[in-house]
Amino acid sequence: MNIKSELNTRVEEIDKIIAGYLPAEEDYQKAIMEAMNYSVLAGGKRLRPMLMLETYRLFGGTSKVVEPFMAAIEMIHTYSLVHDNLPAMDNDEYRRGKKTTHAVYGEAMGILAGDALLNFAFETALKAFDMEPDNRNIGKALQVLAKKAGIYGMIGGQVVDIQSEGTSDMTKEKLDFIYRLKTGALMESSMMIGAILAGTDEKEQQIVEKVAGEIGLAFQIQDDILDVTSTAEVLGKPIGSDEKNQKFTYVTFEGLEKAKEDVAIITDQAIAHMNSLAGKNEFLNELLLYLVAREK
Ligand code: IPE
Ligand code: IPE
Ligand code: MG
Ligand code: MG
Ligand code: MG
Repeated sequence: MNIKSELNTRVEEIDKIIAGYLPAEEDYQKAIMEAMNYSVLAGGKRLRPMLMLETYRLFGGTSKVVEPFMAAIEMIHTYSLVHDNLPAMDNDEYRRGKKTTHAVYGEAMGILAGDALLNFAFETALKAFDMEPDNRNIGKALQVLAKKAGIYGMIGGQVVDIQSEGTSDMTKEKLDFIYRLKTGALMESSMMIGAILAGTDEKEQQIVEKVAGEIGLAFQIQDDILDVTSTAEVLGKPIGSDEKNQKFTYVTFEGLEKAKEDVAIITDQAIAHMNSLAGKNEFLNELLLYLVAREK
């Protein structure tokens, strides 16, 4: 399998789906639609909608009902980045190879664009009910979408991340907690929603949650590694952001070599757990291996 060309095909397919759910830029408040569309259309790997769709396929899903959820998870992820970039948070000027939303539209509009994307994500996901009004799995998927983005998920992780800046009392457990929430939770959301919409049972959903949590952990460790080893040109966002903000990262905690080893080990665990599921999706396996070696 040529993973790069497979990825390109999928990203094109996902980009079309997302574009179809973005708001028209009109009326007195059109600045907010412009800021939202700028942030989402700036690009990005589209990893979360990809994981959602591939998990849906893994369990035999074929309906378009997954599509509003794919757009919604990318909106939530993008909002988390728009706010993560703000001066009060990581204070970064570049993202996805472009100026960050607040750098282009001003700080107030950056805050509002993040808020707007979060709300619009739910407006979008709820459109699944227009497609399949009697599908009870949609309600379950919405519960997961809401919870994993909130104080028991992504926001919870961001809170502890920010509170831990400049402190010296970090522990492995706390660092793991931050990563599992700030990054892992949206991966869990993505894959669990794919599984739920495909009609899986509770036990399968639990395995999917575990796999996705491991993927998220490995993904964030790799993100920390790249913050030290990559370049702004390749990453599309500044390097050295963590050091600038006195973040305690996996790299400062374990060192670069151990961090790299752990990305591979945790990914292998995720693949092993995924292989314990009944279905198979070769692309998903290849994708996880690709992520270990990713350069951006
Ligand atoms: C960046 O996520 C934030 C982290 C959780 C590390 P991605 O690396 O998936 O960002 P995009 O979507 O490709 O820009
Ligand atoms: C952010 O982690 C995770 C989010 C929930 C946005 P980082 O702060 O390390 O992400 P980058 O490096 O800015 O993409
Ligand atoms: Mg951050
Ligand atoms: Mg950041
Ligand atoms: Mg980072």
